[in-house]
Amino acid sequence: MEPQSQASKEKYAADISSIREARDRIKPFVHRTPVLTSESLNVLSGRKLYFKAECLQKGGAFKFRGACNAVYSLDDEQAAKGVVTHSSGNHAAALALAAKLRGISSYIVIPKNAPKCKVENVLRYGGQVIWSENTMQAREDTASRVLEETGAVLLHPFNDGRIISGQGTISLELLEQVTHLDTLVVPISGGGLITGVAIAAKSINPSLKIFAAEPSGANDSALSKAAGQIVTLPSTDTVADGLRAFLGDLTWPVVRDLVDDVIVVEDNEIIDAMKLCYEILKVAVEPSGAIGLAAVLSDRFQKHPASKDCNHIGIILSGGNVDLGVLWDSLRKP
Ligand SMILES: Cc1ncc(COP(=O)(O)O)c(C=O)c1O
Repeated sequence: MEPQSQASKEKYAADISSIREARDRIKPFVHRTPVLTSESLNVLSGRKLYFKAECLQKGGAFKFRGACNAVYSLDDEQAAKGVVTHSSGNHAAALALAAKLRGISSYIVIPKNAPKCKVENVLRYGGQVIWSENTMQAREDTASRVLEETGAVLLHPFNDGRIISGQGTISLELLEQVTHLDTLVVPISGGGLITGVAIAAKSINPSLKIFAAEPSGANDSALSKAAGQIVTLPSTDTVADGLRAFLGDLTWPVVRDLVDDVIVVEDNEIIDAMKLCYEILKVAVEPSGAIGLAAVLSDRFQKHPASKDCNHIGIILSGGNVDLGVLWDSLRKP
């Protein structure tokens, strides 16, 4: 029996039915984002690349899919108390926006080191910001306190089946938009995105290869895959501010079973890929959003034994919420 068919017997936090239900639920609210292509980037990578532009999603990132699915899954009584989460940015803004659309309150715990533009997005969508220290523990503790005080429903940024199902809707769209993909390259942090994407994609086409793209300054997923269990790091250091979280107990089993490998890239490669997105694709992506292209262009991928069969690659440009001041500074660095 192939490892894939064994893996698919395990019950994960989401499945193709919950992902299809999510698609129907969120359809009136989300953008069906375009797929961009570029002959120059095909030449540069030696493959055909298809960019799913989630940087053009409402709220500026794929996160709106999961947040919207979760918020609209609540019954009226639950929803009336509002929703709470902790996030360094994109999930926060997405949840605030989804809550605003449903007409309910959102309480957003944000670490003090979150990028300014992402905090502004939360405020723009009417989220109530509660500041916390930067560690995951501090974020979780503050969220628990708010939960007790308000009775609101906690919606975790990635370790939640409703969130994972929402993110999985990307695969349903992308595999309709480009029917001949053989590979997907997906940014990874807590793993909600790649978990949903991989479950849906492998259900539709079990032979698709799935690679995660991860920054070297937060390479816990690569270490976890190598160790066969969740590994966390004492600290992280990367320009990709959306990719600093660690895997959760709902995302790890899928990363373990359905993700073929994790491609680790350096920050300078991420910045170079960002420049290419701006100059060639003409889209505003944030560092975390450009990492898939960085991975495909890296030596680690180009020399990877499996990559010789990767000729039609879907890359998820996962977000575009970039702090322009920080962007200029990083572009000026030699
Ligand atoms: C732009 C962007 N890309 C990718 C990710 C990674 O998503 P996940 O934590 O679900 O792996 C995030 C998470 O915040 C993000 O903001």
